[in-house]
Amino acid sequence: MGASAKIAPSMLSSDFANLASEASRMLRCGADWLHMDIMDGHFVPNLTIGAPVIESLRKHTTAYLDCHLMVTNPLDYVEPLGKAGASGFTFHVEASKENWQELVQKIKSKGMRPGVALKPGTPIEEVYPLIEGENPVELVLVMTVEPGFGGQKFMSEMMEKVRVLRKKYPSLDIEHNHENPVTVLVDGGLGPSTIDAAASAGANCIVAGSSVFGAPEPAQVISLMRKSVDEVQQNI
Ligand code: DX5
Ligand code: ZN
Repeated sequence: MGASAKIAPSMLSSDFANLASEASRMLRCGADWLHMDIMDGHFVPNLTIGAPVIESLRKHTTAYLDCHLMVTNPLDYVEPLGKAGASGFTFHVEASKENWQELVQKIKSKGMRPGVALKPGTPIEEVYPLIEGENPVELVLVMTVEPGFGGQKFMSEMMEKVRVLRKKYPSLDIEHNHENPVTVLVDGGLGPSTIDAAASAGANCIVAGSSVFGAPEPAQVISLMRKSVDEVQQNI
């Protein structure tokens, strides 16, 4: 048995003016996590939300808030996001070359789950030290579009990174007990037409914005994506 499927709608595609009700709608539709895209207008050419919004949303839900930090200085966000009630803190490897060890330690000390993300142009080898270190990350987010905006086209050539990662860490367990395979998350352009490629490459956590929020029945899209991941992971 491989890793469990996690379907995480990207709230970037939600109606931000009704964030709490959009969040509960997604949970009713079967979402496991809520993916929160935090952008600083510097690391990426877009500006979204930060800790104050996470804090407000936290008052309305106990859901796992999977925060994706597309920011130049992730260290500055650890304390505020920890206080705000974030669950996962995934920073970009391109923004943490100097201080990832300190960053991971601090994220854990604030009770959040550390993850590392990489842009399409970044080789997968760059995240190995973060998975193998003494204080490892627990999730790897493989960007399947250029970070910054929802609604872009899935880059299928990124599946090679997912395959390589799964092969290298078939059931890498950071807690040393084989019950917790590394979470491999894909983000960007996922939906009914691309899910099989991602699932068969070994991704178990699927972020999807426009395909879920744009669907007349988001629950159907979520359950279809879950089925695709489960089918692959059950045979591992
Ligand atoms: C892009 C974000 C994604 C985005 C995904 O920078 O990281 O989470 O919202 O949206 P879709 O599924 O529309 O590509
Ligand atoms: Zn994201």
